[in-house]
Amino acid sequence: MISSKKVFALRRQMLSAALIMLAALPAISATPAADESPKALIAKWDQGTATIEVTNYPVAARAGYELFAVRCARCHKLARSVNADYVLPDEWEPRIERMRNKWFSGIDKETGKRILDFLVYDASVRKKPRMDAALAKLSAESRKAAEDRIMEIRLRCENKAP
Ligand code: HEC
Repeated sequence: MISSKKVFALRRQMLSAALIMLAALPAISATPAADESPKALIAKWDQGTATIEVTNYPVAARAGYELFAVRCARCHKLARSVNADYVLPDEWEPRIERMRNKWFSGIDKETGKRILDFLVYDASVRKKPRMDAALAKLSAESRKAAEDRIMEIRLRCENKAP
């Protein structure tokens, strides 16, 4: 039979083990957040889904997707752009322009504009919460300008604009 003294010692050991584990907890939760450097972000985007479900998008947006899927998959995975965090016209525009200006991008100005329309329309549907959060961070004036632009793009995609 185990003596009560031994049980006591065992309990004390278990207790101190539990205390050590508890003490280690803050260290675990304080481990640095996932690497969010641009390089790590791009690697993360590249690993994500590579296609967008556009069956319910208006015709013009579906046509924009076709362009995007060909033009923006020439040098890297389409997934990079599909999963990127950008949502606002002002976030996408300079990036599309940068890609367009790379050697042999094969993307002319008009195509760049149509891809911008698609990416903003898509963000307004597929990344709506992120878009709302991004808009909420802007000053009233910039928010109004961004909302107007998004509306204009959505109307163009829905073929309602002149
Ligand atoms: C001519 C080759 C080429 C084409 C075409 C191209 N890209 Fe890129 N893209 C690159 C290279 C190279 C990088 C990594 C270096 C850099 O960021 O410039 C990159 C990086 C990116 C990034 C991550 C960097 C960032 O700004 O966040 C995104 C997003 C992106 N491309 C989107 C697009 C989109 C959208 C298109 C289509 C409009 C496109 N790419 C077309 C070459 C290209």
